[in-house]
Parts: sequence; C-alpha cells; structure tokens
Amino acid sequence: MARPDPHSYLDADQPRVRALDLALDVDFARRVVAGRVTLDLGAPAAGALDLDTKGLQVRAVVAGGAAVPFALADEEPILGRRLRLDLPDGTRRVVIDYETAPDALALQWLSPEQTEGKRHPFLFSQCQAIHARSLLPCQDSPTVRTPYHAEVTIPEALAAVMSAGPAGDRPGPRPGTRTWLFEMPQPIPSYLVALAVGDLASRDLSHRSRVWAEPETVEAAAYEFGGVEEMIVTAERLFGQYPWDRYDLLVLPPSFPYGGMENPRMTFLTPTVLAGDRSLVDVVAHELAHSWTGNLVTNASMEHFWLNEGFTVWAERRIVEALHGPDALALAWSVGQKALDGSVARFGADSPLTRLRTEMRGVDPDEAFSSIPYEKGARFVVALERAAGREAFDRFVREYIARFRFTSITTERFLEFLEEGLPGVAERVGARRWLYDVGMPEDAPVFRSGALEALTALAEGFATGARPTPEQAAAWSPSELLVYLQHLPRQLDHRACAELDAALGLSGRGNHEILVEWLTIAAGSDYEPVFPRVREVLTRVGRMKYLRPLYGALGKHDRTRRLAREVYAAARPGYHVLSRRVVESVMEAYGVA
Ligand code: BES
Ligand code: ZN
Repeated sequence: MARPDPHSYLDADQPRVRALDLALDVDFARRVVAGRVTLDLGAPAAGALDLDTKGLQVRAVVAGGAAVPFALADEEPILGRRLRLDLPDGTRRVVIDYETAPDALALQWLSPEQTEGKRHPFLFSQCQAIHARSLLPCQDSPTVRTPYHAEVTIPEALAAVMSAGPAGDRPGPRPGTRTWLFEMPQPIPSYLVALAVGDLASRDLSHRSRVWAEPETVEAAAYEFGGVEEMIVTAERLFGQYPWDRYDLLVLPPSFPYGGMENPRMTFLTPTVLAGDRSLVDVVAHELAHSWTGNLVTNASMEHFWLNEGFTVWAERRIVEALHGPDALALAWSVGQKALDGSVARFGADSPLTRLRTEMRGVDPDEAFSSIPYEKGARFVVALERAAGREAFDRFVREYIARFRFTSITTERFLEFLEEGLPGVAERVGARRWLYDVGMPEDAPVFRSGALEALTALAEGFATGARPTPEQAAAWSPSELLVYLQHLPRQLDHRACAELDAALGLSGRGNHEILVEWLTIAAGSDYEPVFPRVREVLTRVGRMKYLRPLYGALGKHDRTRRLAREVYAAARPGYHVLSRRVVESVMEAYGVA
C-alpha cells in the first residue's frame, strides 16, 4: 500500500483512473445529485481499487455487465469514507451509481430568495481542496488527472456550466428537463471538476471569452470584465499561449465563499468583484494566471499548495504590473503584506502552518487555509526572480511550465528543477529557510514606491492629526484608498469615524475591499451609524475573506458582539458550510459575554 497524499485514499500501487464519464441528474427538490460515473482505467486491471467518497450513497457498481463487489469503510473525520472496489480480472471500465448527500460539502444549494432574480434556485460546486469526493467517487488527489465528459440533467428553465467546453444540449429524460453536455479533453485533477446550475445569461467579451451571470447582473459583469481579452493577451506574453481554448467567467450569487476559483475554462467569481469601475479585476488576473500555474503545473498534494498559490500570486502581480505599472504593483504587494501579517498573527509566527512546505497528515485543508502560501510563497518566488535576474527567471518559468505541464509536482521536485535551470540561485536566496522554516525570513523582498510611502505615512499620522486634503483624497484610486484605510489605527473615536466617512464617502462604497476595510474599523470602534450597513453586508455576502475580519472586529465590544450574534442567527442559513465554520471559529473566541 502506498498512500502518497495525506488527504486521499489513493493507493499509488493500484490502477489509476484515466478518464471520467459523468452523468449527473440535479434534483433541486431533494437537494441531491443522482450520479453515474464511469471510470476508465485505460488498460485491463484487477483487484482492489480505492476511491475517496464523502456522504455518498453507493447504489451499484458494475463492470462488463456484472456486479462488482464493493465496501465502504468507516468514516474518517477529514478524509471521509474509502470505497474499495474488488475488480474482476480484465476490468477496463467500471460504472458506479450513487447519490450525493443534501449537505455535500462540494455543493451549495440556494433557494430562489438567495439569488438576485428570486425566481429560480441555484446550485454551485466548490471542490478544492478535497470536496470533489462529496460530488463523485474518485481518486481525489491532484496527482491523478483525467479528461472528462459529462451529461447534466437539469430543470429546463435553467442553464448549466462546467469547468469544460460546452458540447450541446438535448431534451432530458423526463418532461420539464434538459440534458446539457460537456467535454473537457485535457486531463485535470478532481479538485477542478466544477458545476453550476441556475437562471444564467451570458455576454461575449471576446472571441474566446464570455461571462455568465444571472440576467440581473450580466450587464454589470460584462462591463466589469470588458478588459479580459487584454488580460489574456498580457498573460500569454508572459507565460506562453493560453492553453485551455476558452476562458469564460461565471459570476455566482453572493454566498460564494471565495473570491474566485480557477475552474478550467470557467473561472467562478464572487459578485463582490463587481465594483462598477473595474477596480477589483486583479481577482480575474489571479484566476487567469492559474491557467498556467496550478492548472497546468499542479501541487502534488496540499502539502505543496504554495506551488499553486505562491506562483499564481507572483504571476498575477506580473500581469498587474504589465497592465497598470509600478505604482499599482507596489500597492498590490502592500495589500498582500497586510493579509500575510494577519495570517501569521492568527496562527502565531512559529506555527508549522507558516511554513511553505507543510505537513498535513490529520490537518483539514480548510482549517489550514490562509494567506501564507499565497503571499509568503509569492515573496519567495520574487526572491528567486531577483537573484536570477528577470530575464533569466522568465525563461526559467517558461521552461518550468513546459516541463511539468499537465503534471503534479512536489516542493522537492521543484527544487531539483530549479537547481538544474538556475544553478546556485536556491542557495543564494536561502530557499530551504523559505520552504521549511516557520515565519518570514528577515531578508524577504520589500516593495516600495513613492506613492505608497506617502499614503502609509499619512495614515500613520492619523492619530496626530494628519488628514488628506479633499483634493488629494478625490484623486486616490480605489487601491490607494484601500491602502490608506489599511494603515489607519484599528480603533478610532466616533468623531474621527464620522469625519472619515463624510470625507471619503466610505459607507456608500460598492468596492467591497474598501467597504469591508472601513466597516471593520468602524465596527471595531463600536461606531453605531455603520451597524445597518454591517448587517446588510453580512447578511448578503458569504465570502470568507470578508466574514473573518468583520465578525472579528464585532467581537471587541459588548454591543457589537450582540449585533454579531443576532446577524449570524439570521444570516447563517444563507452561508456556505465553510463560511459558517469560519464565523463560528471567530465567534468562539468572543467568550461568553
Ligand atoms: N484556488 C483558490 C481558491 C481556493 C483555494 C479554494 C483553496 C479552496 C481551497 C483561488 O485561486 C484563490 O486563490 N482565490 C482568492 C483570490 C485572490 C487571491 C485574488 C480568493 O478567493 O480570495
Ligand atoms: Zn489562487
């Protein structure tokens, strides 16, 4: 038995699944997906085949027309249940009939009231890191990649999208249903299988890009992402030809727990990026960058997650630099630094989770999630880039992508390849410290710009009376305003709150980065005039990145703790399970008051 991934029952000595064929029947009334998955093993196989499952009811397993013996092991808390098939000699394809649980972690089922249009239900999946197993039985480890084909039956009034190319649709098996076909010809890991079903409309953004959203938001989305083709062209100049054919976007309802998810050919996005002024499209730069770093070259397990996210943040910032220049870039690194500081403070500077290469046996990836693999990882990549020189490093990155495309690698494999391509660079930057030590290296890269320094100095002088002039403030870009707010004291007196809000129009902002930063300060200051806005945001938005600081700030005062509890009781049914867990862990720290 060889179990290479601490988060999967995958046994490397057993056959590997080579292709997936999925037939999914989406039942909104019962909130279950009835599935039939055909696993193609590529060659005749026999004996044990261990699969990951969580909450799945397995109805039947068949190969070559005959029943295949199977056993579901006891549930383990993080991994779920191992499904062991006992394949008869010569098995090439095996078919599993199953059903998902109504509380499957990969799926969020929304009632019509939870959508923009209020008329139709909505379903979306989020499989990363290890939730694909609650949607289908599979070898749920990123070392296994498969192309897939899918047929999805849904109510005929709705539309379906997947992390795949569209391959037509036809009348469904029952009246009132339609079956949508999808084809993903390139091999992808299970965590990139994705599905959304709802009342969806679309607008073309370019010859290879289209945005999907509810009809109520699709125009706003088409405006917000109008620059996506330019972004793709910029990324191609940096990392090589876009390798996935189409790059489509899906704007989800506001309970989507992440900012974005790099589902291949169909990035999933929170509607909180619809600021109205294209100021939050760096999230798209990030998900697009994953088309190379992450989706082409993938981490072998969550112990090497920094390879996905650190490289992607680095790549995202290269896109931002190319599109918006050095001042915008310095601001982006500054915002990242705040996120990094927050995560290091949350875990403690000597926590093993502050390492890039982590040990994750017995650790739930959702609980280990933080900005550390992102921002510490990206700073490590910049350290390498600076040591090698940009030209040499860019060449190296292209070779790295070419060498490992459509494979999954470890930190150690990366180090080997780094040494081959850029001998001595790892040593020069102290790569082992970056990867294997806790906390941040003393000599981590710093990012400066005159504009950034002026802003942070102004914010840091707030307590001693420094204020921007109205002309200055009016000229700030959204990112400048955000950086200014992030450097203000976390608690202000009520007069200062009123003054700030009036001068900068903060409570009325549509840019959620700015809005939530402001509400976090104001809520932490027990400033009552913002309470209705806090309630509104927390009731509508389920993005964990915003829930954590806002609920955290509400923990500082009796009155705001009461507000938090009341708002959470009302908002909880609308939150994704992962969002609930974050809020509950934040509120546990409130104590009993
Ligand atoms: N792949 C991540 C989201 C993710 C990571 C989901 C791990 C589940 C487990 C995605 O690419 C991401 O990083 N999203 C960020 C965007 C940001 C860094 C621009 C987010 O959601 O905030
Ligand atoms: Zn990412």
